[in-house]
Amino acid sequence: MLMRSLVLFLARRGGLRRWMEGSPLAGRLTSRFVAGGSLEEALRVACALNSERLLVTLDRLGENVTSLDQAAASLQAYLEALELISAASIQATISIKPTQFGMNLSEHACRANVAALAEKARRLGTGVELDMESHEYVDRTLRLAVDLQHRFHCIRVAVQAYLYRSEKDVEQLCAAGVPVRLCKGAYLEPRSVAYPRKRDVDANYLRLAHLLLAAGFDPAFATHDQRMISAIQNHVRQRGIGPAGFEFQMLYGIRRDLQRELARQGWRVRLYVPYGAAWYPYFMRRLAERPANILFLLRNLMRR
Ligand code: FDA
Repeated sequence: MLMRSLVLFLARRGGLRRWMEGSPLAGRLTSRFVAGGSLEEALRVACALNSERLLVTLDRLGENVTSLDQAAASLQAYLEALELISAASIQATISIKPTQFGMNLSEHACRANVAALAEKARRLGTGVELDMESHEYVDRTLRLAVDLQHRFHCIRVAVQAYLYRSEKDVEQLCAAGVPVRLCKGAYLEPRSVAYPRKRDVDANYLRLAHLLLAAGFDPAFATHDQRMISAIQNHVRQRGIGPAGFEFQMLYGIRRDLQRELARQGWRVRLYVPYGAAWYPYFMRRLAERPANILFLLRNLMRR
């Protein structure tokens, strides 16, 4: 727990971030979790995954832009990604962080940016998934999701099981017809807003999963936790819900064995595939999730 907090604290250090992202070692360190520095590399990975019956959601790394010009650049980059996904007939949605589109600067500007993206995604027959960031953004992100889903019908929004508020949020999203991606939550949050103990987060995850399977729209269960996955499989079998009614989602490079095994068994599986140069915060969250990843990092550093 202490290690998780330390790594998540370091994830917010700008100086360390600049040094790490500029380091020539970066490619070797990140290649397990990041599909590449460019859109072209990410599309090649997405094509290969599709050929293994794995669906994709592409994430262009970046968050907390510091100007609306940067937010506009994110929009342009994602519009291009949508064009190329469609041109290559890749089965992929896109995943975005609202602060990459200016949520931290102007809710209004962010909404206009993401609406332009959603409009294009709908036209090209794909979807936009809104990642959930730290708790200060939850209200604004949910407002955005509800508004855009009503206008464009191609949105899914992440909900974090570690937040006390998430049960209410799930109920409201189900009532509003907004599809949900359920995850445990990856940020450093105070105990005033989030369950500090893993076993409470896991119990809440299953409670919310059951709610979504009863009243949600095409829910996605984003987890690598075999216990969560088995419990969901048992639940859907008992209730006669087929694999078309929901999907499992996992992160590129994590539990590759399990990803392929689930797809082989006929479950719908989508991989979250990140690409781009701004990899530091994403990479640090992955390190924080599993202490063994820090050993992996240190081993690679020593092999230079
Ligand atoms: P848990 O942490 O209990 O791990 C279960 C097992 O999975 C571990 O024992 C290990 O085997 C494996 N594992 C998990 N993480 C690993 C890692 N980093 N490296 C190696 N093995 C690992 N969070 C958020 O706050 N907002 C969001 O929008 C999203 N979006 C999102 C999309 C998708 C598709 C996924 C899979 C996850 C997210 N997350 C997220 C991250 C999520 O909140 C959570 O931090 C991680 O998925 C880890 O939690 P697990 O459910 O995998 O369980």
